[in-house]
Amino acid sequence: MVTKKKGGFSSSIGFVLSAAGSAVGVGNIWRFPYLAAQDGGGLFLLVYLGLVLTFGFTLLATDIALGRRTGKNALNAFGSLHPKWGFLGKMTFLVPAIIMTYYSVIGGWITRYMVVYLTGQGKAAAQDGYFTSFITSKAAPVMFMLLFLAVTAFIVYSGVEEGIERFSKLVMPGLIFLIIGIAAFSLTLRHTDASGKVRTGLMGLAVYLVPDLTGLTFSRFLKILLDAMSQLFFSLSVSMGIMITYGSYVKKDVNLNRSISQIELFDTGVALLAGMMIIPAVYVFSGTEGMAQGPSLMFVSLPKVFDAMGGVGTVVGIAFFLMVAVAALTSCVSVMETLVANCMELFHAPRKKTSLVIGILSAVSAVLICLGYNVLYFELPLPNGQTGQLLDVMDYVSNSFLLPLICLLTCIFVGWVIKPDWIAEEMETGGYTFRRKKIYAVIIRYIAPVVMTVIFLQSTGCLR
Ligand code: PHE
Repeated sequence: MVTKKKGGFSSSIGFVLSAAGSAVGVGNIWRFPYLAAQDGGGLFLLVYLGLVLTFGFTLLATDIALGRRTGKNALNAFGSLHPKWGFLGKMTFLVPAIIMTYYSVIGGWITRYMVVYLTGQGKAAAQDGYFTSFITSKAAPVMFMLLFLAVTAFIVYSGVEEGIERFSKLVMPGLIFLIIGIAAFSLTLRHTDASGKVRTGLMGLAVYLVPDLTGLTFSRFLKILLDAMSQLFFSLSVSMGIMITYGSYVKKDVNLNRSISQIELFDTGVALLAGMMIIPAVYVFSGTEGMAQGPSLMFVSLPKVFDAMGGVGTVVGIAFFLMVAVAALTSCVSVMETLVANCMELFHAPRKKTSLVIGILSAVSAVLICLGYNVLYFELPLPNGQTGQLLDVMDYVSNSFLLPLICLLTCIFVGWVIKPDWIAEEMETGGYTFRRKKIYAVIIRYIAPVVMTVIFLQSTGCLR
């Protein structure tokens, strides 16, 4: 029973754009393109699309319906349905708490690059070692992080309707225009390298879109499937309590079926466009070898590509980092909102006070993460085979360890304890039809638990 009055989205489109704001983040812009490049181009895209419509829909519907039907945040939602499952709410709350420590640090890096391009210093950013010397310096990363965090906290402090919804309605359509513009420009690129070989944007588009089946074996296909799967649930911001919180703000007369399809379309559309923007550009100037993994794609390879474009590179650089900053900001807002909303519910505290406290705690923890590149520097081998610093360790614990585990437990809880019909009833509230009801039940009860177990074993290094 929801007795106390809480804030909420004023309209269905406000909800969709805010949820899309959370979903569309750096994951869409740097992670999706390099996975596509490395996993057989069009083949990855086909697998991913198939998964969005089945798995993506299932996971998103689960979180949003859980939030709307209970009217609660993750910390209380699970326990209120079944006392023994309260632990799952606590685990789910941990994910945004961990992500919050480092997301604003990455936001700060992006803000810094935006400023670099705005002030016409793109050439410097293209030099070898620029990124490393920036993140290992003591003051600059902290300052830019604080700037990014202050904007995030201000939006959350302003409330759901006045802050998050209003901001998302303002910037999300602009993000689409920017990304379409840069993607269209990417396709017109053309470059002759030192050996006289000409590469064009359209050739790069083919690398991206045409399924590459060379050397396709069952185990390679399985790897592509797992890559697409883990990208999908990170990208949709599911299993971290965020969509439960956002779901709890949705009015009962909103058609969840339609809203969820729109969120999926938005998130996937931006990911596809990001690939169309990045792969041809990198291909034209650096061949496929430029498609590095991780932050180096965005902060090292792309500045080199913008530099190679000549004068227009500055404009493209500004547009690009502005767009990424917006994407990261709306995602960071959703993380902080989830923490604030959970704490408001837990401590019966007002929004403004809670936002301030969470804002300060986030700043302190983010400073520690910044120091992880100088004072607190270490190199820790992670179970997934990579070596990480403080930021990577946090990212590993939240995204590779907790996410698949929470997703697995949530599927068991919904599929076998409260049963899929409980979700279906919420999807049908208001007289709407839940067209994917059957497939939803099959996925949540049987398929998702198996896949999540495999992903969990893989990311914890138990399965190679
Ligand atoms: N969904 C975001 C993306 O695709 C990632 C994210 C996860 C953002 C968790 C916020 C919280 O980049």
